[in-house]
Amino acid sequence: RVVAVIMVGGPTKGTRFRPLSLNIPKPLFPLAGQPMVHHPISACKRIPNLAQIYLIGFYEEREFALYVSSISYELKVPVRYLKEDKPHGSAGGLYNFRDLIMEDSPSHIFLLNCDVCCSFPLPEMLEAHRRYGGMGTILVIKVSAESANQFGELVADPVTNELLHYTEKPETFVSDLINCGVYIFTPDIFNAIHDVSTQRKDRANLRRVSSFEALQSATKTLPTDFVRLDQDILSPLAGKKQLYTYKTLDFWEQIKTPGMSLKCSSLYLAQFRFTSPDLLAIGNGTKSATIMGDVYIHPSAKVHQSAKIGPNVSISANARIGPGARLISCIILDDVEIKENAVVIHSIVGWKSSIGKWSRVQADGDYNSKLGITILGEAVTVEDEVVVINSIVLPNKTLNVSVQEEIIL
Ligand code: GDD
Repeated sequence: RVVAVIMVGGPTKGTRFRPLSLNIPKPLFPLAGQPMVHHPISACKRIPNLAQIYLIGFYEEREFALYVSSISYELKVPVRYLKEDKPHGSAGGLYNFRDLIMEDSPSHIFLLNCDVCCSFPLPEMLEAHRRYGGMGTILVIKVSAESANQFGELVADPVTNELLHYTEKPETFVSDLINCGVYIFTPDIFNAIHDVSTQRKDRANLRRVSSFEALQSATKTLPTDFVRLDQDILSPLAGKKQLYTYKTLDFWEQIKTPGMSLKCSSLYLAQFRFTSPDLLAIGNGTKSATIMGDVYIHPSAKVHQSAKIGPNVSISANARIGPGARLISCIILDDVEIKENAVVIHSIVGWKSSIGKWSRVQADGDYNSKLGITILGEAVTVEDEVVVINSIVLPNKTLNVSVQEEIIL
């Protein structure tokens, strides 16, 4: 049997995701109309003999309760949220719940970061992992040399695929092969994490003996139960024939900012063409809006037949899109109203916001720059004929004059 664990973090993480993370835990923010964490969860469905999916995080339990029960029912696989009392790091969080995770006596444990967007080739990884015969296999991808330093950089043996060297976010270039944040382990991973925290305890005790040193390093040391998968486990175990790599040639992105969520929404919409074509809108018949490219529309949303939608648009529950509206590359959240002839391009429109007649909410669409997409927080009102360009507007604001490249607090 196999179990899957998805690390979802908590409210102190994901601060770069503001203002959208003010309303909703980042893992539940919709990409292609489905919560971010839904994409790895539904990929787990392809794992043979999957017994359980655990989400581990330090958000309040009630924030995940509804989602977890509905997705368990939908996928017919039990999904449980496990709450840490405090952050234990990406490996410490897993270790904290080792007894529960081992209840199903799994032969393998998948570990996934929730904030990555990829095709999650999990069955293929499992097969490769069995062939390699190590303790763990890491999904890796080649990226541009300039962007590699935002990730864990690694060197792998070109023949055996063994992980030879690993450095987390290095200051000087090591390699353009990076860690995708998707792993498969045997239960031996728990011993490896245990060893790291025992070594830390021993060191802490030694320090207590020589108090001068203790004074010097007290501020630098991590709690003994805080273990990071990358620095504390992958780096020291590289080159010891325990860890191997599986390279993906498919798409992969990390989702730390609202700009990247728009990019990833488009990647998942494109993937739906193969995995869930029933979720994509098709504009046929005279009574439906004009649909261009990949578009998701929630069944409860009302889109006027003279509106023109797409490509890369997702429209959430109860949104109302008026006559003549034009939407391109955007995420429209629940209960938004877009009035007649308004235009929205490269933007995220927050819950319950309203965009007036003949207004424009737009940006140049540079996903990596701070103001490259326009973001309206919850319950923002853009009055008629107002233009909002490359801006971020915090919740509950009313805009009655046009703005450009501004952050409206
Ligand atoms: N439950 C829980 N508890 N989750 C945590 C904790 C914790 O204490 N700390 C981090 N996480 C979760 C985050 O929500 C995220 O899904 C994942 O663990 C990794 O987060 P970080 O440790 O902050 O690392 P990162 O996202 O900056 O980088 C990691 O992922 C990259 C791929 O996206 C590293 O492993 C990089 O090497 C890798 O390239």
